[in-house]
Amino acid sequence: MAAPFTVLVMAAGQGTRMLSDTAKVLHRVAGKALVDWVVEAAREAGADRVVAVVRPGDGVAEGITEGIEVVEQREGEGTGAAVLAARDAVLAGNGQGGLVVVLSGDQPLITAQQLEGLLAEHRERGAVATLLTTDRLDPAGYGRVVRDSDGGVDRIFETKHTEGLTDEELAEREINLGTYAFDASALFDALDQVELEKGERYLTGVLPVIRQNGGIIAAHKTDDADAAIGVNDRAGLMAAEEAAQRRIIEDHARAGVTFLHPGTTRVEAGVTIGRDTVIGPGTLLEGSTSVGEGCELGPHTTARDATIHDGAAILHSFVLGAEVGPGARVGPFAYLRPGTTVREGAKVGTFVEVKNSDIGAGAKVPHLSYIGDADVGEGANLGASTITANYDGRRKHRTKLGKSVKTGIHTSLIAPLDVGDRAYTGAGSTITGDVPEGALGIAREKQKNIDGYADRVEEDSQK
Ligand code: UD1
Ligand code: CA
Repeated sequence: MAAPFTVLVMAAGQGTRMLSDTAKVLHRVAGKALVDWVVEAAREAGADRVVAVVRPGDGVAEGITEGIEVVEQREGEGTGAAVLAARDAVLAGNGQGGLVVVLSGDQPLITAQQLEGLLAEHRERGAVATLLTTDRLDPAGYGRVVRDSDGGVDRIFETKHTEGLTDEELAEREINLGTYAFDASALFDALDQVELEKGERYLTGVLPVIRQNGGIIAAHKTDDADAAIGVNDRAGLMAAEEAAQRRIIEDHARAGVTFLHPGTTRVEAGVTIGRDTVIGPGTLLEGSTSVGEGCELGPHTTARDATIHDGAAILHSFVLGAEVGPGARVGPFAYLRPGTTVREGAKVGTFVEVKNSDIGAGAKVPHLSYIGDADVGEGANLGASTITANYDGRRKHRTKLGKSVKTGIHTSLIAPLDVGDRAYTGAGSTITGDVPEGALGIAREKQKNIDGYADRVEEDSQK
């Protein structure tokens, strides 16, 4: 078994370029906070402990995934100051010879595989520090890595300012991603010796110190440059979102999901999708949505915190906190709201809104209806424009429609109300009282015909 290691997540930067009231690392990519992406990668890589460094009162401690240790950076600026703030927490759990992996809370697309590769390189090389690097990006502005003859790291130089750098140096393509494995005690000893630069203590300042002390600095090169995306402003947030979408959609595709138009599809990180499901253009799957196998979603369907069972079809619709049963059909143009269950084989059709209601197996609500706070029995069929009046201006009431009930078109159901199994309502009825099992409830004015009406209108107009 591999030796234990601690992951330290730096999440206390000011993030001023976000121009936001929300701490930078709590901004979301694919629906998940930046810092939670990083914490999850650390856990997946097998971290024994995860320690996050936050700023007092910045809300990160409250917003972060539960079960990790949080320490506060109360003084100093810069990545070096962030790591120093965690000295006691790291050394307390780790002992002197422990291993610590330092990650940035604003680099969401770092993967567990990259961390495993970093740790393997660190151990094989007997290194004191190992950096994650890549040569798959435009290196402008990044710290560049110069290797020594043994393949270790000779030095790093920053290129934010290029004065005084040679053409040969600027041709260097390997860059430092800001993700490191360190021998913990050597890291903190070196940090004490790092000088402030422009009022900040830079974590990268430990590398020359470690090298002077004879420590080996290794580098682990990765081909997946998405890990390098650091969110420093909203443009960076968009870049991370785009890369996350590519990754998420490709992972689902590899697991047997068809995307007809991935470029207009957005799938958040917490969503699950079964195989043989087809996702149409303009479809958004958000929050804790789970989708079964063999479903058809979209075009243009949004599902948030929804549970969609095998074989369901949802076209041009909005599903929020609702459950759609096996083989059920929804839309086009339906709105399912929280607390709604559409059971197996049921249909909710065109321009239908359903809230906090249970639509029984095989029941149909095909056209132009509002169904709120209702229980619709198995096999019921609601005529076009059946409406529940569930709210009397002060309180909500339930409507209960039994099995195989058939409402005529334009039925208004004034709740509370109980319509028995197999009962009918007449078209255009305003139903205010219960209808017994098997009966027809009809509540509308009797039609009367006025003979000769048209002739009278014509005579009047000639006067
Ligand atoms: C850092 C690296 C740079 C690397 C780049 C990769 C340093 C000095 N620079 O630059 O070499 O190429 O990442 O993206 O390390 N933080 C704190 N407390 C602070 C300051 C920062 O916790 O006082 C946290 C931030 O929340 C962030 C992380 O440290 O998660 C990195 O800080 P940031 O200011 O974004 O560093 P970069 O300029 O991106
Ligand atoms: Ca950054």
